[in-house]
Amino acid sequence: MPVTQFNVIDPYKYINGFGGHKESEAIEGALPLAANSPQKCPYGLYNEKLSGSAFTAPRNENQQTWLYRILPSASHQSFESVPDHVNQSLIHSKSSGSQFTVIPNQLLWAPFDFDSGSSWVDSLHLIAGAGDPTLKQGIGYYVYALGRSMDEKSAFYSADGDFLIIPQHGTLDIRTELGKMLVRPSEFCVIPRGIRYHVALHDSEPARGYILELYQGHFQLPELGPIGSNGLANARDFQTPVADFIEDYENTEWSLYGKFGGNLFSAKQSHTPFDVVAWHGTYYPYKYDLGRFCPLNAVSHDHIDPSIFTVLTAPSIPHGPGTAVADFVCFGPRWNVSENTFRPPWYHRNTMSEFMGLIKGNYPGDFRAGGANLHNTMSGHGVDTQTFEKASGMDLVPTKLMQGSLSFMFESCLMVGVTEWGLKTVASKVHQFGAIVDLVADM
Ligand SMILES: [Fe+2]
Repeated sequence: MPVTQFNVIDPYKYINGFGGHKESEAIEGALPLAANSPQKCPYGLYNEKLSGSAFTAPRNENQQTWLYRILPSASHQSFESVPDHVNQSLIHSKSSGSQFTVIPNQLLWAPFDFDSGSSWVDSLHLIAGAGDPTLKQGIGYYVYALGRSMDEKSAFYSADGDFLIIPQHGTLDIRTELGKMLVRPSEFCVIPRGIRYHVALHDSEPARGYILELYQGHFQLPELGPIGSNGLANARDFQTPVADFIEDYENTEWSLYGKFGGNLFSAKQSHTPFDVVAWHGTYYPYKYDLGRFCPLNAVSHDHIDPSIFTVLTAPSIPHGPGTAVADFVCFGPRWNVSENTFRPPWYHRNTMSEFMGLIKGNYPGDFRAGGANLHNTMSGHGVDTQTFEKASGMDLVPTKLMQGSLSFMFESCLMVGVTEWGLKTVASKVHQFGAIVDLVADM
């Protein structure tokens, strides 16, 4: 089945396609013709530019969007620090790496607890990462677990990076400045740096999932090389919301939460942030159904590198060609037909670090849906002895892998450290001949 069969119907409209210029207007004629910044915008709207890259970035990497809104986003009171943030989980290091404990042991986390009292902002737990958002270098890995929607008149944004959000349980109903998205388990979304949004639960169902925050650059589709022009994640399957606004600017008070340099700030404003009537440009949120991913693999023999399952990548230029600060990789149902092949992953030590989560289904061992594990740089791992013996002697008939399961991996060229919260919640340090993960994904 090429597309996930969801229990929850998505009522929203989208624009299809990954990257490139898009435009949307909630009221016909709200987008000015030809000019981006006319002397007077249609309907008396304010124009505002939202830039996600340097103005002078190369044309194919330039990400800028023009917003036409009822009031400028600059209209708010001063930001105040939120020192008593529930669990301090957002707080990041001011100097590179000092917040993280970097250890070579394999780490395993049991499914993270739900938190009925938390809404989106309080639910973000930084578990691991590398680098520093103030230098726009590195990554942050979060888990979220919330039991209630954000207050109706509140919004959140991160100035630190792009959020790649992967629901594991519960559907997220997200209103962004540029429009609304429903993001269900098996889907993920990306909300770029700076874009303001509100997260509500669907039918009050608690939600849990994972986030990769990218402090540098933006995600792109991997090159396909000899694969050709189609396969893996196809551009047409990405969906961007259409313009949608509300009018709330008289006798009203909104709370705006901003993640800035790893710390949380809040400001009051007397109008809604969700008043963008029309927009056009190259910088916007989007979502994708992992069920639409078109996996490719060996059809004769050998176990191929897991990079063949890359959905999105964020290159790291200083680390060399083809090297990513973050690859987002997914493992879903597929056939394994390799002959004369040890089908599980080979034993390996990689320069890249691997953080995995399980969205649904079962893995052997203690890796559970809603949990996670980390295999760090050059830490050797592979299947356990029992699996090795089984795979070495099995009859190599075509086999359907991971039916009903879906897992993902954040692969990074950076050595990933764990936060205090991450260490506190870790279930076990796996230090043995056999680790849990890789076998599943590929056996
Ligand atoms: Fe691995």
